[in-house]
Amino acid sequence: MPSPCLRSLPSRLVPLVLLGLAGLARSAPPARDVEPRVNELLARMTVEEKIGQLQQLDSVPNTWAIRDEHRDLASRGLVGSFLNIRGAKAINEAQRLAVEKSRLRIPLLFGFDVIHGYRVIFPTPLAEASSWDPAVAERAAGIAAAEAASTGLKWTFAPMVDIARDPRWGRIMEGSGEDPYLGSVLAAARVRGFQGDDPAAPDRVLACAKHWVAYGAAEGGRDYNTAELSEHTLRTTYFPPFRAALDAGAQTFMCSFNTIDGVPASANPFTLTKVLRDEWHFDGLLVSDYESIKEMIAHRTAADGADAARQALNAGVDMEMVSRLFAEHLPKLMEQGKVPPAKLDEAVRRILRVKFRAGLFEHPYVDESREAKVVGAREHRAAAREIAARSTVLLKNDGGLLPIKPATRAIAVIGPLADDPDAPLSHWRGDGRVEDTVTLFAGLRSKVQGRGDVQVTYAKGCDIEGDSVDGFPEAVRLARQAELAIVAVGESSAMSGEAGSRSSLDLPGHQLNLVKTIQATGVPTVVVLYNGRPLTIGWIADHVPAIVEAWLPGTEGGNALADVLFGDVNPGGKLPVTFPRTVGQVPIYYNALSTGRPAKADNRYTSKYIDLPSDPQFPFGYGLSYTRFELSSLTLSAKSIAPDGKLTVSVDVKNVGDRPGDEVVQLYLRDEVSSVARPVKELAGFRRVTLPPGGTQTVRFELGPDRLGFLDANLRFVVEPGQFQVTAGTSSVGGLTEGFEVAGP
Ligand code: NOJ
Repeated sequence: MPSPCLRSLPSRLVPLVLLGLAGLARSAPPARDVEPRVNELLARMTVEEKIGQLQQLDSVPNTWAIRDEHRDLASRGLVGSFLNIRGAKAINEAQRLAVEKSRLRIPLLFGFDVIHGYRVIFPTPLAEASSWDPAVAERAAGIAAAEAASTGLKWTFAPMVDIARDPRWGRIMEGSGEDPYLGSVLAAARVRGFQGDDPAAPDRVLACAKHWVAYGAAEGGRDYNTAELSEHTLRTTYFPPFRAALDAGAQTFMCSFNTIDGVPASANPFTLTKVLRDEWHFDGLLVSDYESIKEMIAHRTAADGADAARQALNAGVDMEMVSRLFAEHLPKLMEQGKVPPAKLDEAVRRILRVKFRAGLFEHPYVDESREAKVVGAREHRAAAREIAARSTVLLKNDGGLLPIKPATRAIAVIGPLADDPDAPLSHWRGDGRVEDTVTLFAGLRSKVQGRGDVQVTYAKGCDIEGDSVDGFPEAVRLARQAELAIVAVGESSAMSGEAGSRSSLDLPGHQLNLVKTIQATGVPTVVVLYNGRPLTIGWIADHVPAIVEAWLPGTEGGNALADVLFGDVNPGGKLPVTFPRTVGQVPIYYNALSTGRPAKADNRYTSKYIDLPSDPQFPFGYGLSYTRFELSSLTLSAKSIAPDGKLTVSVDVKNVGDRPGDEVVQLYLRDEVSSVARPVKELAGFRRVTLPPGGTQTVRFELGPDRLGFLDANLRFVVEPGQFQVTAGTSSVGGLTEGFEVAGP
């Protein structure tokens, strides 16, 4: 199937800061040597050793060391991989057991969830997606890889490339939002960032595209819940970012916890074998999720552990994370003929292949002296600051309240997120440390240092959750003494991420009351949002003049926000996900299918709610700047193209304001008539440009069959003749539109 995912990726490669790598360059054995070596090794392995390679085991919680009971297994070659062992010394020590003691000396593969940074924490992936800049995602992943690899890790369980259209789902923070095209571009960028050209390099790690598949479609947004969707939707919406990750070279995949069509993803022959191996020719390894094979017993699709192990291996899982069902049951299952030896060999072959490609046989150990130099390096922090600023979205700025005027002398920083070092790191913080976090208050204070007469005061006001409003009077007092109040509100780190689903998208606790109370003082007020997901902020959007979406911005978030609030950086981020007005609108996403009754305010019998406007609070692709941009001269290279032809679309973007700034030019496609319903519009290209005041740039996009085509009712990829529209805009709403035709045969 010609995949609907992108073929070429816009990318501005930014050199990665690498420390002390001179003389360390190394790479994996040439591809041609890998297969014979895999086969030769496989031929020497006992069944027990083969099954051992399929096992991934966890460390001791909190100390992150190898568990005592696992030492013996490693020494006997009965473990293939560990997760969560941390630190070069601990990793080398565990590696020595396998490489020096086990019969075949097969090195262990050490993995960890390095999701948006190892020690220096970058903004969450959803935040980075707001940059609409694949170079940002690639650079952050590259630095995270360099830090992780310096500790001996060789595998990250990232990128998470699940499409998420339900902000109740806590893991929305870990992906790139709702759009398959943006998600595909960023998936590929992150894979390149983690793996580089060669995952064996000392500053790279293996990437893992997860969670295969439809994990983000959890019903009700409740984590681990059932996903119920058609093969058409799977292939059109959920598969493309995985395919893009694979095309970018992702060496590993992780299956998801959910069922698909009633079959758990951990034993789903359709997704694991038919699509991934037979159609896409993936030859890397697929790891289960944490005990997800065992969970088939709770799904009640497996009678017992043996049944679960049989189903998972036969369906195409190669490595079992943490539960030990392969180890316990495969010997007997093989004796009974329930698992063919070829299935076991294939799984082992995939694991060994990836270990060879990762250069582990040549370089099983890490140089312990490098860890301290690389992890947390100053240059990494500087990059995190730039990236966090680039990921910030300005949602509202009435009357040009921002940037903060140079004459402002007194600023009150208020709110439970204003000086909270924990939330910015998120639920997925790698080895990030709260003591490294620059909070908003700290960032603003250091920004005004040296501007002697500027005062920045702080009051918490209230907690993120809970009933107490005892802090309100002090917050009001400070606000009244200030010329500007900056109120930082949002969610704690635990309110998103894994198992962080919420039924409400409102600000928790008394935070909205705090905003209302400060706003009522009459002091000009800016709201800064720290959140893992879109929130419902209708009152704030209606009443507060300026709103900045910071997301969970990582270690350097406070400095980055100070840069943005003071105008040293002009914000240019755009939302990668729709902000609903109320939770009842969910799921709401820009690229919904056309219905027979498009919403009309004056017609009851159309597809809408009677108690809400049908548009969202903020649409996909939306974001403001301190300057203004205008688009003009939308030009198509042809009015008619052949089904296999290409069209060049160009549009001029001009900075018509008075300061330099960034705009993201977005190109949307609409197929006027097609044999199956297509989305009302689909993102087909985007480019973030930086322009001086008065500056103009012509942005060009190429549209070919991969964007014009779609899967028909028989799941065949087709480009159907007929009328199309392209719209060039600065969000998914509005813009300049032109039509063209795909000519018939
Ligand atoms: C469960 C999560 O779903 C997965 O994303 C993660 O990689 C594993 N735990 C390992 O921590």
